[in-house]
Amino acid sequence: MKFFIDSADVNAIREAVSLGVIDGVTTNPTHMAKAVKTSGKSSKDVLKEICSIIDGPISAEAISLKAEEMIAEARQLAGIHPNIVVKLPITEDGLKAVSVLSKEGIKTNVTLIFSASQALMAAKAGATYVSPFVARLDKVGHVGMQVVEEIVTIFRNYDMKTEVIVASLTNPRWVVDAAMMGADIATIPYETFEQLVKHPMTDIGIEQFLNDWKNASGR
Ligand code: E4P
Repeated sequence: MKFFIDSADVNAIREAVSLGVIDGVTTNPTHMAKAVKTSGKSSKDVLKEICSIIDGPISAEAISLKAEEMIAEARQLAGIHPNIVVKLPITEDGLKAVSVLSKEGIKTNVTLIFSASQALMAAKAGATYVSPFVARLDKVGHVGMQVVEEIVTIFRNYDMKTEVIVASLTNPRWVVDAAMMGADIATIPYETFEQLVKHPMTDIGIEQFLNDWKNASGR
């Protein structure tokens, strides 16, 4: 299973990379707007910096909504660095763009997936990745991980090459659930990484071991 960090914050990305568990990055316009504002750099320079930190797939989202404009924007984004994956929303225009871009060898991440049918359409059009959003589905009373399970099962049934990036992961348990289902990738915010490592029993154990050692050794 691959782990991506869901962020455009270069400091958070560097920190997560130092843990030795990161295979790639996903950004979105919200992340990018924040990074541009705090760094004073252009989005292109932020992307270049991210690409210099980690050698893996880096998703950069297009903001155009018409197929022709999406294609032009995707070509520009892909020209920034060979590791750039262009993120496009699941719409009819998005599918048209994915179909053209996949034939050009430009990698795509079809985003804002909220149903298995959307993921299936994106895979048929040639998407490299699909990103189902778990927390956002749960927020409106659905079970996000159920949608992930359906997508993983369908792709496995037909040996589809499209990889599943489980996204919108605010609960560390969902990372374990995604792994149990055999999802290819989890894209994880920095805060969720911290939760994945922490356990109160570990903290108690460390304290107890250190106390026992101090008492026995007199140090
Ligand atoms: C993934 O590609 C998205 O950037 C991200 O996971 C969205 O997460 P959110 O629903 O917490 O904003």
